Amino acid sequence: MDLQNKKVLITGGSAGIGKAIIKELAQRGVKQIAVVGRRQEALDALKEEFTAVDFLTTRSNVAKPEDLDNAVAAVAAAWGELDMLINNAGVVSAGLLSELSDEDIINQININVTGLILLTKKALPLLTKSKEAAIMNMSSGYGYIAMPFYSVYAATKAAVGQFSDAMRRELHQYPIHVMTVYPSATDTDMMKTAVVSEMDTAEDVAKAAVAGLLQGEINVILGGKQREEQIKVNFLEPKKIDAFAAANYEQLRERTKQHRSM
Ligand SMILES: NC(=O)c1ccc[n+]([C@@H]2O[C@H](COP(=O)([O-])OP(=O)(O)OC[C@H]3O[C@@H](n4cnc5c(N)ncnc54)[C@H](OP(=O)(O)O)[C@@H]3O)[C@@H](O)[C@H]2O)c1
Repeated sequence: MDLQNKKVLITGGSAGIGKAIIKELAQRGVKQIAVVGRRQEALDALKEEFTAVDFLTTRSNVAKPEDLDNAVAAVAAAWGELDMLINNAGVVSAGLLSELSDEDIINQININVTGLILLTKKALPLLTKSKEAAIMNMSSGYGYIAMPFYSVYAATKAAVGQFSDAMRRELHQYPIHVMTVYPSATDTDMMKTAVVSEMDTAEDVAKAAVAGLLQGEINVILGGKQREEQIKVNFLEPKKIDAFAAANYEQLRERTKQHRSM
């Protein structure tokens, strides 16, 4: 994919991995970027930080279908087409399923999955006008390997991967590449309440994601060879991962006790 003159819509571009992706795209010459997020001040700050980019910001909650309609209408009015949709916005609330509030369960699903699917649906008429388009969906390592205390989050992220694969196959007659990014633990606001010893930086994830996009990769998996090996084990011998989770249960519980970013 040639990034020059591409028109990009990204959710959750005002912080963390999304903001690092904006930086990476801006460094590679992308100038038209629409950003969706809930906090206006964080959206405004982007304009001061990346002065070479012509931002189109819409204060929207991806969990609200009418907000998504407004965001897509703004892009349609400004550009009339779209080359890249990056579904990055996401939230997490960890804990035993029995202890998660109904609200946190519903909101994780609405933000991480329903909003992502609805925005994709609403943006498709603009994406199909592009001569070379891409949809990048942000999953998580938990989308491949589910862990205790992340039952709902892992379910949402597995859904993201399946949605991507189905859409790529459904859209094969269009020049729209659909890919999924699976970050490992990454040092962003989302992880402030989790206890993790080693994390990637948001820039590491953004660089891998954009490099994968340029190479037409389908799945960009962070975490190196070790992670790829774990994914194989999880698929072929899931009881080994069960045993690992059981052996580390209390430690995992302790480290994730406060993990919430909603
Ligand atoms: N950090 C990690 O360790 C990690 C690992 C694997 C996968 N991921 C995934 O990577 C993505 C980005 O995570 P991050 O770590 O960069 O998180 P982050 O630092 O918390 O940033 C999240 C971004 O999403 C926006 N957002 C959240 N809820 C939204 C909503 N309802 N509507 C619109 N925008 C919303 C936030 O802006 P507002 O708050 O202003 O709305 C913010 O810009 C997520 O999908 C996450 O699940 C992260």
